Amino acid sequence: GIKIVTIGGGSSYTPELMDGFIKRYHELPVREIWLVDVENGKDKVEIDAAMARRMWEKAGYDVKIYTTLNRREALTNADFVTTQFRVGFLEARIKDERIPSYYGMLGQETNGAGGIFKAFRTIPVILDIVEDMKELCPNAWLINFTNPSGMITEAVVKYGKWDKVVGLCNVPVIAMMKEPIAIGYDAKELVYQFVGINHFHWHKVYDKQGKNITQKVIDAMFEGKDIGLPANIANVPFFKEQVEQMQMIPCGYHRYYYRSQEMLEHSLEEYKTIGTRGQQVKETEERLFKLYEDPDLDTKPEELSLRGGAYYSDAACECINSIYNDKKTHMVVSTKNRGTVPELPEDCVVEISSVITAKGPMPIAWGKLPSAQRGWLQCMKAMEECTIEAAITGNYGLALEAFILNPLIPSGKNAKEVLDELLIAHEKYLPQF
Ligand code: NAD
Ligand code: G6P
Ligand code: MN
Repeated sequence: GIKIVTIGGGSSYTPELMDGFIKRYHELPVREIWLVDVENGKDKVEIDAAMARRMWEKAGYDVKIYTTLNRREALTNADFVTTQFRVGFLEARIKDERIPSYYGMLGQETNGAGGIFKAFRTIPVILDIVEDMKELCPNAWLINFTNPSGMITEAVVKYGKWDKVVGLCNVPVIAMMKEPIAIGYDAKELVYQFVGINHFHWHKVYDKQGKNITQKVIDAMFEGKDIGLPANIANVPFFKEQVEQMQMIPCGYHRYYYRSQEMLEHSLEEYKTIGTRGQQVKETEERLFKLYEDPDLDTKPEELSLRGGAYYSDAACECINSIYNDKKTHMVVSTKNRGTVPELPEDCVVEISSVITAKGPMPIAWGKLPSAQRGWLQCMKAMEECTIEAAITGNYGLALEAFILNPLIPSGKNAKEVLDELLIAHEKYLPQF
């Protein structure tokens, strides 16, 4: 049987993960699941574990659920390690959202200054995890969901020197789930091709005769149909002329870049009224854990769909399934470029359509990009590279380079002040600076 270790086991997404494993148990024989957390997450992880046990019992499978605050104990002989932890907890996210907003900049969990700081806090921890894995489970696969998922995965590959890693996100999963419905097709009839980086990718859609039908999705989008925008992103429309010209579907996060002004106005308004997304999530999370505490609840509740990461288990569990059974499924994952996007470094991590095999993702070459997409990606990737290197070295000048390269951070004295303020606010989680 398979040993799964989930780091950040106390996440409110854990029942979602259990659901994904239960659905696939007939081909993915899980034997034990270890939920690892830290002191602060002790209560949450116990509630999740009890809920998980009820879910497995209801399903009628004998799978053992363990909890521990000792990561090394859990990692010993693991087959798959999934990560869903949040360094600094929701308080840190709220600071990432609030502080830039005081300077009229977007505050968001994976974009702008907040995304850079989430990388600064998380990269040292993921590299520690990789060191533990080298020693305790050298054959295991690391399935990373921790944000910023693309940068975390790149840090693991480049600086952790660990190739058995896959970075995941639910955004492509939701798109491939909702778009067929919006255009009246069966999901199995469509061929998808994605290219880009995490939270910054585009895709094209073909029918089973190989005909490009991306325009059908574009039409559905501008008719207001649900094409899978995650729950955490405000639905500011794209410019139709721009999308029709590119003939690709931008991911939901592109609106932060294509409609920066409107997205910023919208978020500043929300911060004044209902609070930042992190504050909203705090409330959703409290409600979720109240539900999970109910000894009669043994299926994942509807309420979980309020979180932006809904359907994440379909990514995580299917990826594990596909590696374990060499299923060669098409999935969109963060993996090493290897020349598939020739305009980006070959050793950087891209989020791209891949065939998931026993030897991991085999990314599908996209080739040359149009000028606009090439320019955006090269700028964003350079920003990510500076961020990752600054996260490792604690080099202040490089952190400032990342800030100044980031399209959501207008350069100048405010940029530097936001950087300084965030460095102080997160000091406890930034030993490298
Ligand atoms: P959360 O705040 O519930 O954190 C999950 C758990 O991590 C908590 O129980 C916390 O105590 C624990 N934790 C914190 N530091 C830890 C450490 N050093 N080691 C082990 N555990 C630790 O977070 P969440 O909302 O469930 O999200 C978890 C992570 O997944 C975040 O990084 C989030 O950004 C990410 N996420 C990714 C996607 C995606 O598409 N890739 C979608 C949603 C969420
Ligand atoms: C999205 C993304 C995640 C993101 C999350 C936020 O769909 O794919 O990477 O960070 O959901 O969700 P939340 O409910 O925490 O705001
Ligand atoms: Mn994501």
